[in-house]
Amino acid sequence: MSDKLASQIEKIIRKAAGIEHGPVVLHEPFFIGNERQYVVDCIDTNWVSTVGKYVNLFEQLLSKVTGVKHCIATINGTAALHICMLLAGVQRDDEVLTQALTFVAAPNAISYCCAIPHFVDVSPVSLGVCPDRLREYLKKIGEIRGKELFNRLTGRRIRALLVMHTFGHPSHLNELKKICDEFNLLLLEDAAEAIGSEYEKKHVGHHGLLSALSFNGNKILTTGGGGAILTNDDNLADVARHLTTTGKVSHQWEFYHDCVAYNYRMPNVNAALGCAQLEQLSEILTKKRLLASRYSSEFSRVDEISFFNEMPKVKSNYWLNAILLKNVSRDRRNKLLDALNNDGIMVRPVWNLSNTLPMYKNCPSDDLSVSQKIEGSLINIPSSPSF
Ligand SMILES: Cc1ncc(COP(=O)(O)O)c(C=O)c1O
Repeated sequence: MSDKLASQIEKIIRKAAGIEHGPVVLHEPFFIGNERQYVVDCIDTNWVSTVGKYVNLFEQLLSKVTGVKHCIATINGTAALHICMLLAGVQRDDEVLTQALTFVAAPNAISYCCAIPHFVDVSPVSLGVCPDRLREYLKKIGEIRGKELFNRLTGRRIRALLVMHTFGHPSHLNELKKICDEFNLLLLEDAAEAIGSEYEKKHVGHHGLLSALSFNGNKILTTGGGGAILTNDDNLADVARHLTTTGKVSHQWEFYHDCVAYNYRMPNVNAALGCAQLEQLSEILTKKRLLASRYSSEFSRVDEISFFNEMPKVKSNYWLNAILLKNVSRDRRNKLLDALNNDGIMVRPVWNLSNTLPMYKNCPSDDLSVSQKIEGSLINIPSSPSF
């Protein structure tokens, strides 16, 4: 490889992955437990759809792992986010604050409620919403009327703040919760990437009124496709169960539905995979954190690169490891992405900022200079637990 930096990065990745030649993928599922046995059990017993013992068991295991009282399993993380929005009372023409540096599922879920994503900047330390910048911004554009916050520039109600734990790194949850309380905003957590991550020794998902997880094939734990809604609120949990199961009123034989609702419940066959995966969580987390510490020490010797480490007081699951170019240059970043991918090292940039996507380009937004710098310099590197 002619690019010296690209070949240095490749060497570090190949050493960490233990793969001398051939492709190194970004993130592979890690099936080393009872996955096959539980899935075959679903087939043998014919319980493959949304009713079956594994769905309930998966929810109970998730509650145990996260410490959140109620976990409602869904078909994917996007559906979980959609229900979180509905349960937070997000309505047509409301605004929901969220980071621009996020996966498109977040602004999409806001839009499903005919509400408007309102983009804010992230902290370079957490990659989640920056509390200091958010407070300054809300002082400037926010106006509390009665018990609600309004955007004085657009006249619209701002209902909630949706924070995201980027690549498994918890956001500044205490500070953000304080701001939400100060400005009468509901806090919601997009914890899609953060199963196993802790903030001040507590699993993420406790600060938000509602949180969403994803178990997509590229996540630390996978159910093939899947997600979950987390909440400590008994009433919201009941409504979440009802809304994700077509609003059907429980009855032995009658089909009576009492509201417009969704067919979002996770099937048993996916939950079976999830139960087996949850049994492996602590082993997977140990492997992920070891890989991150190996990367961190190797990249500390590369002048042009910094490795993204967790901030104090949190324990990240290091879902996707990330390196950043010290001199921000989208062009340089793209050349490295080309060179490494051409050599079989699957690396990827962070998502294009949501405010630059055609359907969201006219949404309200704060200054996004930190997000822009991160977008121009960040590269996700292979992070499979099997390394
Ligand atoms: C931050 C974030 N939010 C939401 C989602 C949506 O999850 P899913 O793909 O399960 O719908 C994902 C992952 O894919 C994600 O990374």
